[in-house]
Amino acid sequence: MKILLLGSGGREHALAWKISQSPKVEKLFIAPGNAGTKGVGENVNLKVNDFEGIKNFCLNEGITMVVVGPEDPLVNGIYDFFKDDELLKSIPVIGPSKKGAVLEGSKDFAKGFMQRHQIPTAAYKTFTGETLDEGKAFLRTLQPPYVLKADGLCAGKGVLILPTLEEAEKELEEMLGGMFGGASSRVVIEEFMSGIECSVFVLTDGKSYKILPEAKDYKRIGEGDTGLNTGGMGSVSPVPFADKEWMKKVEDRIIRPTVEGLKTEGIDYKGFIFFGLINVGGNPKVIEYNVRMGDPETETVMLRLKSDLVDLFESVAAGTLAEKEVEFDERAAVCIMLVSGGYPGSYEKGFPISGIDEVDGSIVFHAGTAIKEGQIVTNGGRVIAVSSYGKDKEEALQKSFTEAKKIKFQGKNFRRDIGADL
Ligand code: AMP
Ligand code: GLY
Repeated sequence: MKILLLGSGGREHALAWKISQSPKVEKLFIAPGNAGTKGVGENVNLKVNDFEGIKNFCLNEGITMVVVGPEDPLVNGIYDFFKDDELLKSIPVIGPSKKGAVLEGSKDFAKGFMQRHQIPTAAYKTFTGETLDEGKAFLRTLQPPYVLKADGLCAGKGVLILPTLEEAEKELEEMLGGMFGGASSRVVIEEFMSGIECSVFVLTDGKSYKILPEAKDYKRIGEGDTGLNTGGMGSVSPVPFADKEWMKKVEDRIIRPTVEGLKTEGIDYKGFIFFGLINVGGNPKVIEYNVRMGDPETETVMLRLKSDLVDLFESVAAGTLAEKEVEFDERAAVCIMLVSGGYPGSYEKGFPISGIDEVDGSIVFHAGTAIKEGQIVTNGGRVIAVSSYGKDKEEALQKSFTEAKKIKFQGKNFRRDIGADL
């Protein structure tokens, strides 16, 4: 097979690493990729939302499958673009249709979907500029802290959690006033849920599904879960509280009703579903849906997936996923994210990175890197993920921390407490 993978982060390097291990793959291209994906395939200088450019590339190279890493092209309808094009329709796209991607593209749609299918989530209401006063009145019926969510995509920045009613009212007004542009012209206000989070992933062909290893990510910049939200500072798999009993609740109450719901609503969905869950007193509830894999969860989930991912993708495309078995690696996997100094605030790029070749026994996934004059340099906030296996998470963490020390760049920062809360 000739596969084109879209994206350029740590998630895509981990997906590319896993895809490239499949004996079914003749050639793997990554568009646009990063300095790391070059090691497992060929980078192509194409933007993920340049559908015409992607079309030409697929036709010229004889691509036989497209795998979509980030949500953006999915929300923009890349699946439908292929399906509706005479020349492209025989090339399967792994990722949901535009209608399916709305599960991530609109928080209001996702909440309505969960309500229609009795999927446990926080109580909520949605407001617009016209209903600002009703929104403020609704806030007064809730207990602090207050959760405000911009309806549309905001690159992970659209959720505000506010300790006082005054702040919540003020932020609601600002969000509806255009704080996130059109993305916050509608705002979901929801009940605050208290518990530990867990990311659960499935692959679906729209009829059946396979559950992949779960993971926990660490979103805050500071140790002890303090400071600003980031794209994710590390991840751990498995998650101890996600035992058989808990995962059965997740499957019965959340996964199955979601896949059934997509089917009954006539939504074409062949790809990953990422359930952002929270454990509230032993019961899983949905915080959000994403229509792609998580980052940095993929950097541990791919280590724990023993099955051939490309073989699974083929059955997703063919609608025969029910016939497959998914095998997990019993070992633990962790990932530590090395980030630029200043991130998630402003930071500089272009610092040389040394020591990657000295890493021994861990797997280095590039997130924000580039090659400048033959030298690997920093090119983003999240720079490199150091992933490791261990007989348990402690052993895996020790390995990643030891190896992460060898990688050096100016301003390097990372959290030393990944996995410590579990
Ligand atoms: P989201 O972008 O929906 O994943 O929200 C970002 C983060 O905000 C989540 O990972 C949670 O940590 C937190 N969050 C979102 N909704 C809630 C909620 N209803 N209760 C508590 N925390 C929440
Ligand atoms: N790790 C969370 C996300 O990918 O959205």
